[in-house]
Amino acid sequence: MGRRRQAVLDRGLPYLVAELEGYVVGYCYASQFRPRDGYRFTVEDSIYVRPDCTGHRVGSMLLAQLILDCYLEGCHSMVGCICGVNVPSVALHTSLGFQQVGLLPEAGRKFGEWLPLSIMQRQLR
Ligand SMILES: CC(C)(COP(=O)(O)OP(=O)(O)OC[C@H]1O[C@@H](n2cnc3c(N)ncnc32)[C@H](O)[C@@H]1OP(=O)(O)O)[C@@H](O)C(=O)NCCC(=O)NCCS
Repeated sequence: MGRRRQAVLDRGLPYLVAELEGYVVGYCYASQFRPRDGYRFTVEDSIYVRPDCTGHRVGSMLLAQLILDCYLEGCHSMVGCICGVNVPSVALHTSLGFQQVGLLPEAGRKFGEWLPLSIMQRQLR
């Protein structure tokens, strides 16, 4: 996690942590969508809220701030890649203006099962 966080910061992209009464309750960060230079204005978000703190808008606050920070950093669009069926994540991204733009069948494999990857995107500018 430390290496991942450092790579995000080295790239000049935001890594945000939400705290409640001194405890970490969630975090999110942006990374370049694909490594080639032509994709440098498109970022992918990653977001995680502590399981016993979901449903209290921590995710909304984190992702809204991430969108703003990436916009201010000059990014052009943000992509959310959602593996399998993840109703909360689709709801979160939809509520912040993302639209599903692609679906890769059997793109991931977890616990002996093939999972689709849903791609959602939001323009930032
Ligand atoms: C996805 C996740 C980050 C959402 O964070 P959260 O703090 O629970 O979300 P919020 O409380 O801010 O809710 C955001 C929106 O999603 C909706 N939502 C949240 N959980 C929902 C659920 N279980 N079912 C339906 N809608 C849901 C909320 O109603 C809200 O919509 P609104 O703004 O239109 O009212 C959180 O559930 C999580 O960490 N999940 C596990 C990790 C994960 O899947 N990360 C994403 C990987 S792609």
